[in-house]
Amino acid sequence: MKNNYDNVASFYDTLSKLVFSRSQVKAQVALLPHIRPNSRVLIVGGGTGWILEEIARIQPETLDIIYVEISARMIALSEKRNTGGNKVTFLNQGIEQFETKEPFDVIITPFLFDNFAKERAEQVFHQLNRLAKDKWLFIDFVPKQSHRWQKWLLNSMYVFFRLLCNVEATHLADMQPFFEAAGYHPIQNAYYYFGFIKSIAYEKSKM
Ligand SMILES: C[S@@+](CC[C@H](N)C(=O)[O-])C[C@H]1O[C@@H](n2cnc3c(N)ncnc32)[C@H](O)[C@@H]1O
Repeated sequence: MKNNYDNVASFYDTLSKLVFSRSQVKAQVALLPHIRPNSRVLIVGGGTGWILEEIARIQPETLDIIYVEISARMIALSEKRNTGGNKVTFLNQGIEQFETKEPFDVIITPFLFDNFAKERAEQVFHQLNRLAKDKWLFIDFVPKQSHRWQKWLLNSMYVFFRLLCNVEATHLADMQPFFEAAGYHPIQNAYYYFGFIKSIAYEKSKM
């Protein structure tokens, strides 16, 4: 199965901190205040689930969260998290297979799209866009790096995660044009880890 992080689930967070210190965490936590009480939230590719504990610190009880994660081991770790009084539904499946008629107030895709080849990135973007009502919290690596060390690091990560997780991407898909074309505008925008990581809170235009 493509893009499944089962083989690295037990040490993924440690590896992230070794390479990026807390940058990947900070880039996500900075956007969480955009989640309002009583929101319906979709998290795709949440990994070990630490984000659920961070969300509970900010909104401890009124959220209805759907947590879609393709890795069974990541789901097992996530289920052990303290999610406060929020309702969390864990779904062990690829987002491509997820169906619902109810839209979401907030969609969170933390380091999800960097796994996808262009066609899948485009397909998943349109799928999530149909489900998005208001905010989309997008966190990922930046596609055009001017620094040689960033290119080297990105390529090394792709080699490593292709071997262990069958990650299909060989380079980053640039998602910004998709957001622009679909009528999103950034309301919060920050860079982390010397400009290698970008976190953006998008708001969807009411058409
Ligand atoms: C790079 S990891 C990021 C984990 C977490 N967001 C973090 O920042 O610590 C990407 C995660 O997305 C999951 N994933 C990859 N493709 C997916 C898909 N099509 N549907 C749902 N989850 C997916 C992987 O299993 C993995 O846990």
